[in-house]
Amino acid sequence: MKFFIDTANLEEIRLAESLGVLDGVTTNPSLIAKIVEDPASFTRRDFLAHIERICQLVDGPVSAEVTTLDAEEMMREGEELAAIHKNVVVKCPLTIDGLKAIRHLSEKGIRTNATLVFSPNQAILAAKAGASYVSPFVGRLDDISTEGMALVGQIVEIYDNYGLMTEVIVASVRHPQHVVESALIGADIATIPYGVIRQLANHPLTDAGLKKFMEDAAVIKG
Ligand code: E4P
Repeated sequence: MKFFIDTANLEEIRLAESLGVLDGVTTNPSLIAKIVEDPASFTRRDFLAHIERICQLVDGPVSAEVTTLDAEEMMREGEELAAIHKNVVVKCPLTIDGLKAIRHLSEKGIRTNATLVFSPNQAILAAKAGASYVSPFVGRLDDISTEGMALVGQIVEIYDNYGLMTEVIVASVRHPQHVVESALIGADIATIPYGVIRQLANHPLTDAGLKKFMEDAAVIKG
């Protein structure tokens, strides 16, 4: 399973990249808003420049999201985003307009990520429209007492049934158990916040074992 980091924070991306386990990055407008220091002066040009900086840090797909509800505008924004770098993947919402944009962009050879996916039918539509990736949001489903990982299982099964090539990105990951379940289900990718990536390495028995090994290592002199 590939690991993407779910952030627009350059320092977090650098740190995750230094671990040697990073395959790509996903962003969305809310993640972009978090890194903006002066909202009054942040322009579209600044946004595009930020996406370019992310592409320079990671050699893998970087999802950048459109910021409009209109299909024609999504197509225009998508082409602009794709022109930044070969690794840019254009994120479009799973709406009727989003589907039109995904179809248009995929026909132009631009990779797309269908986002805000909450049902198997939306995932089928994304694949039929030619999306390169589909992003079911597991944490937001869990938040409303609906099992997010069950949706991932359904999408993986449906895509397998028909040999659909769209890759499944488990999104809205909140904790390490989401990552384990993604891998068990056979999702292609989990996009994970930096804090959760760090949590993956933790185990109290590792800490306890290491403490004892370090104490006993004192026997080795020189
Ligand atoms: C990534 O593609 C999604 O936009 C992101 O995982 C959403 O996460 P959230 O539900 O924690 O905002």
